[in-house]
Order: sequence, then structure tokens, then C-alpha cells
Amino acid sequence: MEPLLTFSGVELYYDQVYALRNVSLEVNEGETVALIGANGAGKTSILRAITGLRKIRKGEIRFRGQRIDGRPPDELVKMGIAMVPEGRRSFPLMSVKDNLLMGAFTRHDKAEVANTLEAVLTRFPRLRERYSQAAGTMSGGEQQMLVIGRALMSRPTLLLLDEPSLGIAPKLVQDIARSIVAINRDEQVSVLLVEQNSRIALKISARAYALSTGAVALSGPSAELLNDERIKTLYLGGEL
Ligand SMILES: Nc1ncnc2c1ncn2[C@@H]1O[C@H](COP(=O)(O)OP(=O)(O)O)[C@@H](O)[C@H]1O
Ligand SMILES: [Mg+2]
Repeated sequence: MEPLLTFSGVELYYDQVYALRNVSLEVNEGETVALIGANGAGKTSILRAITGLRKIRKGEIRFRGQRIDGRPPDELVKMGIAMVPEGRRSFPLMSVKDNLLMGAFTRHDKAEVANTLEAVLTRFPRLRERYSQAAGTMSGGEQQMLVIGRALMSRPTLLLLDEPSLGIAPKLVQDIARSIVAINRDEQVSVLLVEQNSRIALKISARAYALSTGAVALSGPSAELLNDERIKTLYLGGEL
């Protein structure tokens, strides 16, 4: 079967400085794939390339076999790609409810949007408890749940998550990790998970790519990478 998402030979530059060099990777239907690597390795650049926030200089990006590089963001959302950017940006003065409804901006069937909203509130009970509260009054972990929920409101088939565990209390990191597993399993959403917290990312993904200075250094089944001496030395030292 054709992969859901394919990168082939992708190069991305910021001015004259490359951020991605000949990157090829795949996410299959129903899979959770982790992208790990140190700060500055190029993880966020991969997500920016997928969502069209940065133009690629070389290579191709395909979603369900169709070229998507160069398409506008709202078209990508309609195709089924949703991104949760770094730094969990909610609209802090808006209520939890309105933040979630923003995620459904490409959808017009009110009854279906209401069904998705109900499913998101069931997935994240804390959001139901704080439904009318301003998003900015919630903890970092709760806001991370909110932005994941907001992404789910577009009913994606591919969910891109950029460092969901960064700066979040350990207890909530576990909750969020469990939610990601559940979203993938119950809603057949494929996940591309970017994490500096390699241990968690490898534990909840099926396959992973380790990036180093803009190139794929290692890839394989996550269970194997967890026990790979090179990964242990490079990425797992001292964490958790
Ligand atoms: N807006 C930008 N302008 C210039 N250089 C950037 C910009 N964003 C990222 N870079 C550079 O591109 C490289 C990859 O960055 P990034 O994709 O953000 O890495 P990661 O997400 O793995 O930390 C780094 O060297 C970074 O300094
Ligand atoms: Mg990043």
C-alpha cells in the first residue's frame, strides 16, 4: 500500500543555510512515527515543509500520492493534515470552547462539528471541566491538551505534533502520551510526533527517524532504536 505521507530527497534552506539535506521518510496509514534529534536538528523544519510554512528547495512531498509541496495551508487542512505547533499556542483570551471551534474552520456541517466537539471533550475531560474558561488561565499541560483537541476538530487523518511534552509537568506528560496513543488507536489518525524527549517518543511510536544536522542519521522500528547503543549515547543520555 502507498504510504500516507512521503518525503523524497527534500532540501530546505533558511537563506543560504540548509536545515534539511536530502531527507526521505514515510508515514504509513495508521502509523505513529517519531522524529527525534537534538535542538536544531531540523525536526520543526520537516513539519514546516509539510504544512507549507517553508518552501522546499529540492525534492517532493506527497500525501496520499499527491504532491502537496506548494499548496496553501487551508487546502492541506481540508486534505486531512493538522498541525500542533511548538509552544502550544492557544488563543489565551478566548474560551476553551471557542479555541476548539476555531479548529473546525474548514468544516460547515454544524451537526458533525458538534459530534467531533463532544468526542474531543470526552477524550480530554479537563477541557470539559474548563469549557467556558479563558484558555490562558489553564496550566501548560491543559493548554497542550487544548491545542491537540483543536487540531482534532478538523478531523485529520494525519496529526503533526511538535514537542508536545516540552515544558510540561511529568504527570501531564504521561497523560498526553496516553492520549496520543489513544487518538492513533481509536480514531485511526496517523501521527508524526516530533520530540526531544526521545524515550517517550520511542515508547509510543511504531517507527522512528533520528535526525542529525538536517539529515536522517538512523531509522527503524522504535523498539529497536530504544535499545540501539548509538541512540542511547546520542539521545537518551540523562533523560527521565
Ligand atoms: N526562521 C529561521 N531562520 C533561520 N534559521 C532557522 C530558522 N528556523 C530554524 N532555523 C535553523 O534551521 C536549523 C533547524 O532548525 P529546526 O528545524 O527548528 O530544528 P529543531 O526543531 O530540530 O530544533 C537550525 O540550525 C536552526 O537554527
Ligand atoms: Mg523544533
